[in-house]
Amino acid sequence: MTVKLDPWGHFAIEKYEKLFTQFGIEPIDKVLDKLPSPHHFFHRRIVFGHRDFDKWLEALRRGERVAVLTGFMPSGHTHLGHLMVIEELRYLQSLGAHIKVVVADAEAYAVRRRSRREVIEYGREYITHALAWGLDPDKTEFYFQTANTPTYYRLIQMFSRKVTMAEMEAIYGRLEPAKIMAALTQAADILHLQLDEYGGYKYILVPVGADQDPHIRLTRDIADRFENELGLKRPSSFYHKFIRGLDGNKMSSSHPEYAIFLLDPPKTIRKKVFMALTGGRATAEEQRKYGGEPEKCTVYELYMYFLYRSDELLRRVYEECTGGVILCGACKRRAAKLLLEIIEEHQKKYREIAESGIVEKMVRIPDF
Ligand code: TRP
Ligand code: SF4
Repeated sequence: MTVKLDPWGHFAIEKYEKLFTQFGIEPIDKVLDKLPSPHHFFHRRIVFGHRDFDKWLEALRRGERVAVLTGFMPSGHTHLGHLMVIEELRYLQSLGAHIKVVVADAEAYAVRRRSRREVIEYGREYITHALAWGLDPDKTEFYFQTANTPTYYRLIQMFSRKVTMAEMEAIYGRLEPAKIMAALTQAADILHLQLDEYGGYKYILVPVGADQDPHIRLTRDIADRFENELGLKRPSSFYHKFIRGLDGNKMSSSHPEYAIFLLDPPKTIRKKVFMALTGGRATAEEQRKYGGEPEKCTVYELYMYFLYRSDELLRRVYEECTGGVILCGACKRRAAKLLLEIIEEHQKKYREIAESGIVEKMVRIPDF
């Protein structure tokens, strides 16, 4: 069976391993011992695959010029899915990498059909969360696509010349002008940092969700074609699995009742965790006898992604669950408590950052 990677779709990808053979994404395994310091996303295989990430790490280690560029679409309030990228950025920043983040407001307007006012507000919210989560404002840059320079826009125009419709359709399937624009714009997001106006060539890493790989493939092809003319070179990338919503599907703002938003009131978060899909058995009796199934459980996923950075503590939850020692009610109560500690602390920082006016100082916010 072939899997389809649709960057504009809403699907969870069940079999991430298929992406290795089908698209040539490399498994993350061999890179693990090259990481200068460990992070649980990697050894838990939440970040499961990459393209040339090993080469990028090598360039970083040798002190060559490197940068990280990623982005997100401001089509809803920021949730735990977005926080995964922010967490990855914080880690990459701790390794010494320069970080640039694009707010894909042009894409959200054209493809997700949000109003300009909405995407600007969601964008501002996202940037505030990124800073509140600990990205260093002195070492991170943000921009809105629609407020970027003529040089960047010129790149989008130039890219359009060397891509055919047949190629685009081979990568994305049928697509309308808005998506063609969005794809070329994303290629410009990733590659413009290599232009002279932006300090010249540097090796770019793009950390993203697995659904974004089609854009990376396109961007790598485009880079090859502009190597002579503009000195562009292929970016590297790594991919994470999506955190699932509490109903078991990909977490998304289009299903707000199953997503955990970073600004949800504590009461709402507790309620959401309590109704989450678990890997529990039909009755308490059966669960004591057979144990639960953490692999299926969205609460276990919360522990694994965000609640327990310590492997020892995570293993304990796993064993308590599979051994039938703990039942889902108690397990959820503990998860909700841990999550609330993290979120309430974060919300406090969020308010500080929002009130400080730093976002407006750092970023040019489009007027409309
Ligand atoms: N398409 C991305 C998303 O859906 C957003 C995005 C725009 C992006 N430009 C980018 C991501 C460049 C990584 C790199 O979220
Ligand atoms: Fe999930 Fe916890 Fe229930 Fe196990 S005990 S299925 S980890 S909620």
